[in-house]
Amino acid sequence: MTVIDELSALEQEATAALAATQDVAALAEWKSRYIGKSGALTRLSRGLGALPADQRPEVGRRVNALRQHLEDAYAAAELRLTGAAISAELSADQVDVTLPGRRPALGYTHLTNQVLAQVQTIFAEMGFQVWESPEVELDDYNFGLLNFAEDHPARDMQDTFYVEMPPGAPSVLLRTHTSPGQLHAMHRYAPQPLRVLLPGKVYRNEQVTVRSEMMFHQFEFLAVGRHISMGDLKGTLAYFAERMYGAGTRVRLRPSYFPFTEPSAEMDVSCFLCNGKGCRVCKYAGWLEIGGCGMVHPTVLRNGGYDPELFSGFAGGFGPERIAMLKYGIDDIRGFYSGDARFVEQFG
Ligand code: DAH
Repeated sequence: MTVIDELSALEQEATAALAATQDVAALAEWKSRYIGKSGALTRLSRGLGALPADQRPEVGRRVNALRQHLEDAYAAAELRLTGAAISAELSADQVDVTLPGRRPALGYTHLTNQVLAQVQTIFAEMGFQVWESPEVELDDYNFGLLNFAEDHPARDMQDTFYVEMPPGAPSVLLRTHTSPGQLHAMHRYAPQPLRVLLPGKVYRNEQVTVRSEMMFHQFEFLAVGRHISMGDLKGTLAYFAERMYGAGTRVRLRPSYFPFTEPSAEMDVSCFLCNGKGCRVCKYAGWLEIGGCGMVHPTVLRNGGYDPELFSGFAGGFGPERIAMLKYGIDDIRGFYSGDARFVEQFG
């Protein structure tokens, strides 16, 4: 067999083998067998040197032409096989565009914020504007300016979280109630009359139990003006109670004591469940205790920049968690801030 014959036999064999390849692996094998470095074509061209000189150019040209031909054929086959592999992969991984989408989980407004939003609406209806005041507070604002005596037990480390400060710096703490906001508001508006609502977080160094948390919320309301009386306080509370708990809810004030009000009172509302007849929620009293209130103490008015001879005011501080617990029969305050979404979702 001449070299030329061998070349055409190889061409036939390689072409047939290439047509038979079904996948990329077989194609790689074909490549190394026929046109690879130690493939059949390379082996054939190594024999060129042994040919008579007059045949060498012609055979050399043929070898080159065949290599070119087989490389082109290889490239075409590669395109065919990888294209097939890609479309096989695509059809196996089809997206059904008619399937419904996945809904992202919805968040919920926390129960405390629901109550606070409702409280803000009710007080806004009476002309109170919402004000924020700091959670990290000067000792003076939390206690002194509110007329707490120097040795008042609430100032004790047992009850209050103090912030560590450099020596000589004023005493700083996490506010234990929203009442210091009264002074911030008065300092901002005195001697103008004012009506503000101050919602926010408060902190107490307490044993955590079903009834008490170290962090909870309060909202403070404060009105200062020229002829404000206890009757205005009671009217404000009556409106609040009816809007919060429903028409017909009654309000009762019981004498109490707070350093920053005189006179001071605890406010009760008639039990919304039994309408005052007595049930488990109100512990058969017919009344539910909501929070403290009173007429702003003259000393506090003066500390706020108002002349107590000309101005008077009322104030109160209530807890939204307590309002929510009574409303929904929640018997453990720890659910509010445990971070368990199932608690929040119930009230979504
Ligand atoms: N600051 C009081 C507390 O944390 C609540 C309070 C009572 C606020 C009477 C007032 C008030 O404004 O007049 O227990």
